[in-house]
Amino acid sequence: MLSAKDFGTDFLWGIATAAAQIEGAATSDGKGPSIWDTFSKRTGKTKKGHHPQIACDFYHRYKDDILLVKTLGFKVFRFSISWSRLLPNGTGEVNQAGITFYHHVIDECLKHDLIPCITLYHWDLPEALSKIGGWKAFGINAAFNEFVSLCAKSFGNKVKDWLVINEPFGFASLGYMLGIHAPGETGLTNFFAAVQHAAIAQADGGRILRAEIKNAKIGTTFSCSEIIPHTQSDLDITAAKRVDCLMNRLFIEPALGMGFPTANWDVLEKFAISHSTWRHKERMTFDFDYIGLQNYFPLVVKFNAFIPVIQAWEVKAKSRKKPHTKMGWEINADSFYNIIKQFAAYPNVKEIVITENGAAFDDKLINGKIDDQDRIDYFKLYLSAMLKAKNEGVNITGYMAWTLMDNFEWAEGYEARFGLVHNDFKTQVRTIKNSGYWWQTFLSP
Ligand code: NOJ
Repeated sequence: MLSAKDFGTDFLWGIATAAAQIEGAATSDGKGPSIWDTFSKRTGKTKKGHHPQIACDFYHRYKDDILLVKTLGFKVFRFSISWSRLLPNGTGEVNQAGITFYHHVIDECLKHDLIPCITLYHWDLPEALSKIGGWKAFGINAAFNEFVSLCAKSFGNKVKDWLVINEPFGFASLGYMLGIHAPGETGLTNFFAAVQHAAIAQADGGRILRAEIKNAKIGTTFSCSEIIPHTQSDLDITAAKRVDCLMNRLFIEPALGMGFPTANWDVLEKFAISHSTWRHKERMTFDFDYIGLQNYFPLVVKFNAFIPVIQAWEVKAKSRKKPHTKMGWEINADSFYNIIKQFAAYPNVKEIVITENGAAFDDKLINGKIDDQDRIDYFKLYLSAMLKAKNEGVNITGYMAWTLMDNFEWAEGYEARFGLVHNDFKTQVRTIKNSGYWWQTFLSP
């Protein structure tokens, strides 16, 4: 039977969360609006008009929730800082109540002997900055650096474990190209501008943390998915390569000093030339102590001439009759293993932490219990795949499950439940799911 001991005694097990998804208290104690506060007010942008104003009310319940992390047996608590809680206007005047709140969260972790791991940016840009262009505008980099310095100076004496940006491809593509996440902008020009500024921000952020915090362990996270060509035809194989550039290589390669992956995709090359991206190659490079990989599913793609630019189309798990989660994401642990190996093959990747992995299912609360065997099975499969990669020599040193409790799943609102703990959003009553108990047993010494 799979056991945490198989991963070694130093292996760090954690649980990941994000400010906008759990905190609530969206207008309390001086917090300024974030793009998710405003985006969710627009008609039809989130399922059933759900918004993050209250979410899990972690802002008021953090003590009980951190105790839950401890109860489940995890060692690391990953959370993010709401930029507009510290800097309501994005830059300038600091909201002391925000600083105090995160000190309380950190102190509560330390009290329970948990390691606090801070994500600086998990998608909730201050609305004030979005109004002046957000991630599309060059000025975002100076604003981001001010925010990073403030966090490093405020919390660096207590927190050593940092992640600069959560899934830059996620917010750049969903928020600036497809318009289905905040701030709801579309088009390639917006997307590529956001990509460039985010690639600079992840490296700048790393440098600031390094300069400000003694003994900091600095990482950043990347979403990743094995890209599988639908058939072995040349067209499908080259379509898969383009998608791989976009979804897997776009942010890690600049961080490693390789620049954008232009060689496999002419559109990127044209962009790089016309937007002088080359000039920033050095600035986009940073020697991260570790990289955070976040994986949920593979993508099967085939060539499609009617899709502009990328000329590729996803063949969904459902139509391939493959097992999938409530999100429609294929359950495929071999692809988890394969993508870990793909990222581990970069010579400059020193250490890997899985900073997110988990699944949403149709949980039913029956007689005070949630029997989510499907989620338990998912974790067993994915952890076994990770162990295989580790045993083959990949330097994986930690794993964080997504996520502590059901929360605001962005455009999906409160309908997609990823938690190990069920949340009743009307009463805020937390109920540990069977998967939570499974983790407790798995992690028990
Ligand atoms: C990626 C994001 O980082 C997180 O915020 C989100 O909830 C999960 N994956 C699940 O979609």
